[in-house]
Amino acid sequence: MRAHFRLESAIRFLGLGFLILNHSPIVAARVVGGRNSETQTSGRQVIKLDSDWRFSHSFENPDGISYDQLKAYILPGANAFIADPSGHHHRPSPEPNITVQYADNGFDDSNWEIVRVPHDWAIKGPFYVGSNVPVGGGMGRLPVQGVGWYRRKIAIEPADIDKEIYLDIDGAMSYAIVWLNGKLLGGWPYGYNSFRLDLTPHLIRGKDNQLAIRLDNPTKSSRWYPGGGLYRNVWLTKVDKTHVGQSGTYITTEDVSSSSATLNLAVSVENKANIKRDIYISTDVFQLNPETGKRGSKVASFPRASVSLPPGQSVDSSSSTTARNPQLWGVWTSQKPNMYVAITKLHTSASNHVIDTYETRLGIRTFDPSPEGLLVNGERVRIQGVNQHHDLGALGAAFNVRAAERQLEILRDLGVNAVRTSHNPPAPELLDLLDRKGFLVMDEIFDSWEIQKNPNDFHLIFPEWHEADLRSFIRRDRNHPSIYSWSVGNEVGEQYTGANGTAVARRLVEIAHETDPTRPVTASLNYAKPNMTFPTAFDAISLNYQGEGIRDTPPYSHLSGIKTSPLYSAFHSAFPDKLIEGSETASALSSRGTYIFPVTSEISAPINDTSGGNSTSLQVSAYELYSADYGASADKTFVGQDPYSFVAGEFVWTGFDYLGEPTPYDSARSSYSGIVDLAGFPKDRYYLYQARWRPDLRTAHILPHWTWPGRAGEVTPVHVFTSADEAELFLNGESQGRLVREQYSYRFRWDEVVYAPGELRVVTYKNGEVWAKATVETVGEAAGLRLAADQSLIRADGEDLAYVTVEVVDSKGRVVPQASDTITFDVSGAGELVATDNGNPADFTVFPSKQRKAYNGLALAIVRAKAGERGPIIIRASAAKLEIARIVIKTS
Ligand SMILES: *[C@@H]1O[C@H](CO)[C@@H](O)[C@H](O)[C@H]1NC(C)=O
Ligand SMILES: *[C@@H]1O[C@H](CO)[C@@H](O)[C@H](O)[C@H]1NC(C)=O
Ligand SMILES: *[C@@H]1O[C@H](CO)[C@@H](O)[C@H](O)[C@H]1NC(C)=O
Ligand SMILES: *[C@@H]1O[C@H](CO)[C@@H](O)[C@H](O)[C@H]1NC(C)=O
Ligand SMILES: *[C@@H]1O[C@H](CO)[C@@H](O)[C@H](O)[C@H]1NC(C)=O
Repeated sequence: MRAHFRLESAIRFLGLGFLILNHSPIVAARVVGGRNSETQTSGRQVIKLDSDWRFSHSFENPDGISYDQLKAYILPGANAFIADPSGHHHRPSPEPNITVQYADNGFDDSNWEIVRVPHDWAIKGPFYVGSNVPVGGGMGRLPVQGVGWYRRKIAIEPADIDKEIYLDIDGAMSYAIVWLNGKLLGGWPYGYNSFRLDLTPHLIRGKDNQLAIRLDNPTKSSRWYPGGGLYRNVWLTKVDKTHVGQSGTYITTEDVSSSSATLNLAVSVENKANIKRDIYISTDVFQLNPETGKRGSKVASFPRASVSLPPGQSVDSSSSTTARNPQLWGVWTSQKPNMYVAITKLHTSASNHVIDTYETRLGIRTFDPSPEGLLVNGERVRIQGVNQHHDLGALGAAFNVRAAERQLEILRDLGVNAVRTSHNPPAPELLDLLDRKGFLVMDEIFDSWEIQKNPNDFHLIFPEWHEADLRSFIRRDRNHPSIYSWSVGNEVGEQYTGANGTAVARRLVEIAHETDPTRPVTASLNYAKPNMTFPTAFDAISLNYQGEGIRDTPPYSHLSGIKTSPLYSAFHSAFPDKLIEGSETASALSSRGTYIFPVTSEISAPINDTSGGNSTSLQVSAYELYSADYGASADKTFVGQDPYSFVAGEFVWTGFDYLGEPTPYDSARSSYSGIVDLAGFPKDRYYLYQARWRPDLRTAHILPHWTWPGRAGEVTPVHVFTSADEAELFLNGESQGRLVREQYSYRFRWDEVVYAPGELRVVTYKNGEVWAKATVETVGEAAGLRLAADQSLIRADGEDLAYVTVEVVDSKGRVVPQASDTITFDVSGAGELVATDNGNPADFTVFPSKQRKAYNGLALAIVRAKAGERGPIIIRASAAKLEIARIVIKTS
């Protein structure tokens, strides 16, 4: 491997990314939905183990085993990611003296549930409601705790006998322990990381190889919903004894310009054979259409490298080449996400026979994390980012490509160009999507280090696992062009322990630099100040809430807790060489479509029962002026950023609502912080960010709705979000005043409007010309339902999804904004109902329910085509006294 260059904070990071498909050589299969269950290229076969799993869950430990008891057998799996051999773990002998009936080949699992992986055992509920429950609001009130067992048979063909066969698990929640044919193989405790186990030594010819996986999910282990089970993909990888290793290619670029780029390649080859092997390595680079996975013309070749591999050894080989006229990867808001694919082949020296083929997707680009902002290919790109937790709403933690893609489509529409994977490694397929859609990524690994946030969180295993987790995470992800920064921690307790905490930070940063010297390493600071040593450990300054200030304005003055003045400027002065960004901003809270009176006259206020909240109904006003105690409205956040052009941008907390952490109401099930609700419906805030992030789009959005029986004569403030600079509001034709945008003002507000039924209309102007208009009307009684699907044609692969939105409408087809009718879904034909939702954080109806109350006029049904079944899917929605609606989805 090429010598690592030392990172200095002022260094300009020249990146290249590429994406390693260590599981699947057929790029299109993974990227366009992981849809092929089996892929094969010369020498390598990758099989998705999605079906035929047997599953059993119990809240009490059913087998008497624990991770602590067996960890001596599990820790050796970390060795490949521990740099210092003296820190390696040795598997004890003899084998553990335990009887594990669920791991035995003879165990009868025929009465266990049949499940498909990815699988989240907790998402079907029921919710724990009330206090003194095993899992409270923080972790989403769903039954994540306990022990889950998964069993599946694996067939070994005669042709496989000479192969090396690996089990690749993208994520298992949590404390995975794996047996094959009754033999304990190993495992991996951190539920968000990917890991590989070698099945080869214990495989037998035939169909009866029994895989058994035990997962153990403690309570009080997370600050959000973790899910439970084999919630990401599981793969079987069959390769020649001599093969490209796990995450075994690493490509970087240098001297990138529009006329040429230098590509540096390191390939790690493993020889599991007990004889010496002489091979040569060839790698060609092709254009790639990331949407279709189709390969275009060849643009470069690396020089062939001959390698002699001693038995049982692995060898790294590096080489460089030049690509002429590269089409650069870029961020979608002003550039294009062009990609390439490198095809690495291992050939036997003697016969020129190809024994392995390995694909690495890559993008050629430069990142320059400068103190004046982030430059991508030399152009300043403002980070218009959101934080995203890993759950997919009503689908829970079980990863689904289409569900993740839909989230990105919705976020992109509002102008988002960056995602922080708060606060854990994401599914690999999410990074594939982010690459091809041209988003920036802050890839984050830990929420806690040595110091706990919860009694059973990562701090318990940090001492033994942090190096292996961090190195394997970076090796897995370092080729993705979208990743511009690593984050090794979020709001960790080590911020408070002076030199001790700084030493831990330096160690993590060192590991990250060793594993990938091309990107800055950061951690998010919600407490550490410019004059402390902790921030000095990092290449970039990432502030959570401190940039805009915490509890620093009069509406927050009555609150206890640390008060912090806005710190962007102070950090910029203290670290004049470092990029500064808002890694968590806002924590504005709201319930979609719920408006609570009176409305604060401030631009940002904390929530209580006289200020934007209702602790009985568990709702927060969607006037979008209210925040968590430590947070700020979007408006206040913008006020804090805009005087400082050096701020690289922000990651809003959060893009989508997520399960768990339902601040300010712990008795709810899901968060209030999303710009978009849990079902994927935009809140009013969506249009506030869209006006800012897509200033050229002609937008005007009025709030609240204008159907308020009983409010006649009462003051009902009207606010407008628009990309215009002037706006005039009319109520039933009468002007309420024409307003001009003031500096650091992000909404037009008419706070004295007196409600009368009828029509609200806004006309906006930019540079004196009419820009955009909007109207909101008083609507009639609910009369019917209207259905719309995000996709009219879905693949009959058992994975693709249609998201069907139901609107409750009046006789003129206008959405009834407070409708809460109970809707019953009926799905027939070639599909099935997976889940329903409505985005209400306080709705405890289980997600798989066919019945769902509309929440402020809307509900959602998620429908899947049954694998292999042909024909249409018919979705019917009905509700008492309303006209039935029907929609047909085609399958292919
Ligand atoms: C294995 O465990 C059993 C029961 O705990 C015990 O009786 C036996 O002596 C143990 N065998 C060995 C070799 O330690
Ligand atoms: C730092 O570590 C030392 C040694 O473990 C300990 O005595 C001290 O209290 C720690 N300081 C802080 C601020 O945590
Ligand atoms: C940092 O500055 C604050 C005042 O701005 C001061 O109270 C604090 O003692 C300083 N801390 C250190 C470690 O110098
Ligand atoms: C509620 O919040 C407002 C600020 O929005 C504050 O003025 C008021 O004192 C708070 N009420 C209580 C009971 O804390
Ligand atoms: C809060 O919600 C409850 C339950 O929906 C309702 O009865 C009450 O009127 C609401 N309070 C206010 C002040 O609106």
